[in-house]
Amino acid sequence: MAQVVAGVGCSHVPAVGVAIDKGQTGEPYWAPYFAKVEPARSWMAAVDPDVCIVVYNDHASAFSLEVIPTFALGLAAEFSPADEGYGPRPVPVVEGHPELAWHLAESLILDEFDLTLVNEMEVDHGLTVPLSVLYGQPEAWPCRVIPLCVNVIQYPPPTGNRCYRLGQAIRRAVESYGGGERVVVCGTGGMSHQLQAQRAGLINEAFDHAFLDRLVADPEAAAHIPHVEYLREAGSEGIELVMWLVMRGALDPTVREVHRVTHVPTSNTHNGLLILENA
Ligand SMILES: [Fe+2]
Repeated sequence: MAQVVAGVGCSHVPAVGVAIDKGQTGEPYWAPYFAKVEPARSWMAAVDPDVCIVVYNDHASAFSLEVIPTFALGLAAEFSPADEGYGPRPVPVVEGHPELAWHLAESLILDEFDLTLVNEMEVDHGLTVPLSVLYGQPEAWPCRVIPLCVNVIQYPPPTGNRCYRLGQAIRRAVESYGGGERVVVCGTGGMSHQLQAQRAGLINEAFDHAFLDRLVADPEAAAHIPHVEYLREAGSEGIELVMWLVMRGALDPTVREVHRVTHVPTSNTHNGLLILENA
């Protein structure tokens, strides 16, 4: 059977993608951040998963306010990088895994998660920046990718608990698949940041670390953090952290924390990277 071998939480700060694409990772502003993520790249190379299920949010690239799916699963054979205003990122086309993705669709929908199924879409920095953080600049991405897009843009986003339960259902789905694929689930976005209005620039490192502690050691408690707490403590875009709960749900109740780093500043976001393995 296929299996979930690990989970990764990773911010998807667009400026990190720009720094990689433009060869700026050694510059004084960026070098401390990229030094911190280097062990994660070594870990990723060693684990070498066949498939990454990347839980991310679209930023008005594939979807607009005309259509707002709460959970959208990508079934295509490939997903091209989206043009987010400056041309598409110069990164490889993302290769999908239609067979496993359709199995996930069937398993999850019959498990009462009402997904939107997407046969064609482009993927933006929400998905490609974590791949760049974990893999650098390869000719082709070393793993196949199944995108799982979550609405955290338009109120109301799904609850953390719903995301956590979806992660548990993803694990059941993966383990009922006949292939031998080794799967890493990536939850992306966060950590605390706010992009607009009076509190633009908000960063709350204390909340973010407390969130990570809860996510690792007491995920049921993390799953019950209400939306208003994310909004108040982590800023309006901090709600992206609910996507890390999908990743956490796909792992055992008890996990081993392999790697945790956070960094300020990267753009205007508290940038986090967390790697968990089943204990
Ligand atoms: Fe985002």
